[in-house]
Amino acid sequence: MSNEAAPRPHILILGQGSREHALSRTLAKSPLHPQVFVAPGNDGIAHDPLVQGGCVPISATEHQKLLSFCDTHAIDLVVVGPEAPLCDGIVDVLSAAGVRVIGPVKAAAQLESSKLFAKRIMASAGIPTASWSTLASSLEEATQQLQQCVYPCVLKADGLAGGKGSFIVRSIADALDVVHKLRVERIFGAAGDVILVEELLVGKELSYMGLTDGECFLPFSSSQDFKRLSSDDASPNTGGMGAISPSPECSPELEQMIQSDIVAPLLQEMSLKGFPYQGFIYVGLMLTSEGPKVLEFNVRLGDPETQAVLGREGSGDLLEALLMMSEGKLSAYQGDLRHQGHAVCVVSASQGYPLSVQKGDEIVGLTELLAADAEVFCAGLKYDADADMWLTDGGRVLSVVAEADSLDEAVERVYALSSRVFWRGLQRRDDIG
Ligand code: AMP
Ligand code: GLY
Repeated sequence: MSNEAAPRPHILILGQGSREHALSRTLAKSPLHPQVFVAPGNDGIAHDPLVQGGCVPISATEHQKLLSFCDTHAIDLVVVGPEAPLCDGIVDVLSAAGVRVIGPVKAAAQLESSKLFAKRIMASAGIPTASWSTLASSLEEATQQLQQCVYPCVLKADGLAGGKGSFIVRSIADALDVVHKLRVERIFGAAGDVILVEELLVGKELSYMGLTDGECFLPFSSSQDFKRLSSDDASPNTGGMGAISPSPECSPELEQMIQSDIVAPLLQEMSLKGFPYQGFIYVGLMLTSEGPKVLEFNVRLGDPETQAVLGREGSGDLLEALLMMSEGKLSAYQGDLRHQGHAVCVVSASQGYPLSVQKGDEIVGLTELLAADAEVFCAGLKYDADADMWLTDGGRVLSVVAEADSLDEAVERVYALSSRVFWRGLQRRDDIG
């Protein structure tokens, strides 16, 4: 019998935020001892001793460079973090060159890149969602349509808008203002050319994510995102200022219902329509008095939800699941990716976020926090080697996660850890969890 050790899998993660830092740490901790690379990553990931492959200065749009990196480093699997490269067809490009990759092809990624596509799929699959229509392209007809609406309602840009494309409008004047921004000022370019008008749903929001090969679906624990900058409902929407997992709203019955009434029909319909889906899938839900209704699908993991759901005590080996999926064997994966306990993720953001981000402020305490073996996931920051200091370099600077048997204990721990770093103008919600 050979006593040669199994070869270490070589994994390349694409992306540069806290979500990708969490993914890279989770995969790096696998008993399969992978070598994990992140492209382009960030200075925080580059300083993480767990992520042994380190960061590779290649962006997801540099297809030739990525292909040659995969070749020279014998990459076994590419995992794509953000939506932009997926919607841009990175999976098609890598797969065509024989590189195994987790994520949907461009045609299937329309589930996120076009809200109209997602609504049509939901309509034909019978998936519960807010009632909707598309706004006529002539201003005169659109105005007539908006006169018939029940307010408040929601206007949505069809395309990718960095999470800023949905507007709750309270009057026809508000609605016409949004139409002007989208169609005349074109604040999101072509993404705002088609506008959807949606019924306003009321309830609590829930994020539900999993991994699928198009048939088999492996769920992560449920989670809840805290989207607003502060606890004030009038404060601006952000990419997410924190998350908890599991969501206290998600009972086993609800989870079952989401799987059978939403995920299963979605995957079946995508196949039927010629868009078989594989990759991570994110279902954003509103828990209304009539039951759960889909707000949106994302074709990737959520940020900051991922930081809260991944790699926690009691969960299976995500790397093993991903490798099995890449070999067409996901259904044989025996583990459960849901964690036990309660995880809380708190995001710390720079001054001015999300409107005008202030960069270059010294981050005090980060070196010590990173050395403390805390779950710190870096995003908008950089390391100044000459001055030996960390500086803010983006909106959401870092996420800290703590897990405990109870939510209260996890909250206490995460805030004790988070308060060890600070910078001028730091913004952090104090009510996550
Ligand atoms: P989306 O742009 O679809 O990702 O939605 C962003 C956020 O807008 C959601 O997380 C909700 O908070 C809110 N939202 C979107 N659609 C609706 C709706 N139909 N009713 C109520 N809130 C909504
Ligand atoms: N946290 C919401 C998202 O990632 O879209």
